[in-house]
Amino acid sequence: MTRRSCAIYAVGIICSSLLVVGIGLVVGQVFRTLMHNRLKKEIVLVEGSRVFESWKRPPPPVYMEFFFFNMTNVDAFLAGAKPQVTQVGPYTYREYRYKDNVSMVENDTKVSAYNIKSFIFLRDKSVGDPTEDLITTVNIPAWAVMNKLKGSFWKASAASVWMNTIPGAGLCTTRSVHELLWGYEDPLLARLAGVSSDVDKVFGLMANKNGTNNGEFVYHTGKTNYMDYGKVVTWMGQSQLTFWTTNQSNIINGSDGSAFHPLIEKNERIHIFTPDLCRTIYMEYEKDVEVRGIPAYRFTPPRSVLASKEENPDNEGYCITPKECWELVFSKSAHVAKVPL
Ligand SMILES: *[C@@H]1O[C@H](CO)[C@@H](O)[C@H](O)[C@H]1NC(C)=O
Ligand SMILES: *[C@@H]1O[C@H](CO)[C@@H](O)[C@H](O)[C@H]1NC(C)=O
Ligand SMILES: *[C@@H]1O[C@H](CO)[C@@H](O)[C@H](O)[C@H]1NC(C)=O
Ligand SMILES: *[C@@H]1O[C@H](CO)[C@@H](O)[C@H](O)[C@H]1NC(C)=O
Ligand SMILES: *[C@@H]1O[C@H](CO)[C@@H](O)[C@H](O)[C@H]1NC(C)=O
Ligand SMILES: *[C@@H]1O[C@H](CO)[C@@H](O)[C@H](O)[C@H]1NC(C)=O
Repeated sequence: MTRRSCAIYAVGIICSSLLVVGIGLVVGQVFRTLMHNRLKKEIVLVEGSRVFESWKRPPPPVYMEFFFFNMTNVDAFLAGAKPQVTQVGPYTYREYRYKDNVSMVENDTKVSAYNIKSFIFLRDKSVGDPTEDLITTVNIPAWAVMNKLKGSFWKASAASVWMNTIPGAGLCTTRSVHELLWGYEDPLLARLAGVSSDVDKVFGLMANKNGTNNGEFVYHTGKTNYMDYGKVVTWMGQSQLTFWTTNQSNIINGSDGSAFHPLIEKNERIHIFTPDLCRTIYMEYEKDVEVRGIPAYRFTPPRSVLASKEENPDNEGYCITPKECWELVFSKSAHVAKVPL
């Protein structure tokens, strides 16, 4: 081979490999665009689409673990000593979620549904039997009533005398784990319910949460714009909340956390509306992770989401007085607003 043909040969190789890279790039780009267009078309919440069934019944298991503080020095505590507690837990429940009464609205551009959650106890992931294990803890209803009357010495004294006449309305109570979570009839609340119809006599941290829904949701299906896929349009008929004090905190923005629009980018802020917290939160990209061999981005809520109003003025609307807070906790009409607990 002469030097010349050698050079031509080399140039030829370089040219063809450049061409291959070029073709690769073009094909890659076209393929990506095709893929993306396909995804945007297929990821919509309508009957027969690939995602619809798993949206209605999300398959990944969700576990909820509960821990309690068991007070071990009740008598000393009532006499003014600091409470001594031991942590007991976890009591683990598997949460099942599904969507009920799913119906399409406005030509498949929106879909209405109820989210039903139910909880099944998992003995092998828990430390004991929730119906047998007894926890001694502060009697939240009694504290709430005292707290409400705190401003007035006379009312508080009268209430305290009255409460002493009701068995089981002391400042501490011993209940099973199951009762504390799923509810029991509280003697004090039962008396109050006789007077005010707005009080619910059953108290429990998760009372009325098993097998129930938290109101009607209307979602965008993503048919008009893939960016809207799964976004909440209205919750209980409203496009914004009313219990917080500013428009910024009453906003309903984003999905309910069970679906996100396709082609999420790292620099996005993802908004989620959670009725459990009664508010919208947001998440930002944290790092790349791998889920069962599939590369994924992990998004987490930054500190600013729950920061105090001094640190993040946007959170000002979430500051309500302890009195208002207890009213929210115990009133029936705001059964969803158990935020501060
Ligand atoms: C909580 O403490 C009491 C004694 O103060 C004890 O009898 C009870 O077994 C404890 N409960 C659990 C679940 O450990
Ligand atoms: C679903 O629809 C049925 C029949 O219309 C109704 O009885 C039921 O209460 C609805 N479910 C919810 C969660 O609203
Ligand atoms: C639904 O689509 C039909 C025909 O395309 C149109 O006439 C109608 O106005 C649409 N309805 C809504 C609520 O968009
Ligand atoms: C929730 O309800 C289901 C079905 O009614 C029941 O099997 C389950 O034990 C309940 N869970 C709790 C924690 O009560
Ligand atoms: C909040 O929104 C309502 C209706 O959108 C508007 O009338 C009101 O002026 C807003 N309030 C503030 C403080 O921006
Ligand atoms: C609502 O969410 C979108 C994107 O999900 C975001 O661009 C927008 O700023 C959010 N609005 C507010 C008021 O937070």
